[in-house]
Amino acid sequence: MVRRIPKHLVKKGMFVESLECSNAEFSGRRFLVQSDETVRAILATSAAYALVNPQRSTIDIDADAVVTAEDQKRTQEAVRQGTSALRDSFAAVRAGDLKIETLGPVADEIRDHIDAAPEVFLKVTRLKSKDEGTYMHSLAVSALMMRLARTLDYDDAMVRELGVAGLLHDVGKLMIPNAILNKAGQLEAAEKSRMRGHPEIGYRLLKELGDISPLTLDIVRFHHEVLDGSGYPLGLKAEQLGQEIRLSTVCDVFEALTSARPYKRAWTTRDALNWMFDRGHLFDKKLVLRLGSIFE
Ligand SMILES: [Fe+2]
Repeated sequence: MVRRIPKHLVKKGMFVESLECSNAEFSGRRFLVQSDETVRAILATSAAYALVNPQRSTIDIDADAVVTAEDQKRTQEAVRQGTSALRDSFAAVRAGDLKIETLGPVADEIRDHIDAAPEVFLKVTRLKSKDEGTYMHSLAVSALMMRLARTLDYDDAMVRELGVAGLLHDVGKLMIPNAILNKAGQLEAAEKSRMRGHPEIGYRLLKELGDISPLTLDIVRFHHEVLDGSGYPLGLKAEQLGQEIRLSTVCDVFEALTSARPYKRAWTTRDALNWMFDRGHLFDKKLVLRLGSIFE
């Protein structure tokens, strides 16, 4: 499978299918990189990414080989900035003055990182502290939603809207006390019902703002609904859950399973996907399979 990698990681021995810039700027297509001069020429283009074919390359290109420590550092910095922007946005929601358009660029930035190296992005967002848990989770869910949406051929505007919805999906947790959010043991019945109120709270907070899209509002409100009607807050059934909501649920659950929580260890990607696939009464199997294809 052809890999899309950041241009600064292109090296001698890689077979480049194409660069993501115009032909006029760089006309080379389908060639083996054989000199430092070519590497420099690629770096000089405006392309952010190159499509590299591992089968035709003379060096080994698996995800680990092309992802350097430097890449991880860049991702960490992007996640740090994203977390801080999201913290400000959540505070603005609480104050009733969020400017929704400020979240588009945050979504764009994390989209670039998950596109380049999904495993690295998720590895970074899994390093959550209690304090920033909800923000990091939201960034990761947003990134997964955009990545999955791209495999489903949504257009760029829709991918971005889904990214913004992912950033905001848990905004209702603002109103849940940290003692409940970060509790290490099982939640008492009253705590659980308080926790289950977060989708509706988030929905109301955002609706008050006035200019949030209906799709974003639906995702915030219904991301804990599942196909057989056993989800919350309304217990909607499959036929009432559009693909975009199903997509948010699948990404949210996957992210939660593959992250460590105060009460559980992180599952592997494979275990999480298998567990979800075996629960076709809850999650859309087609979307679970598509999500898996991102990590191949
Ligand atoms: Fe949630």
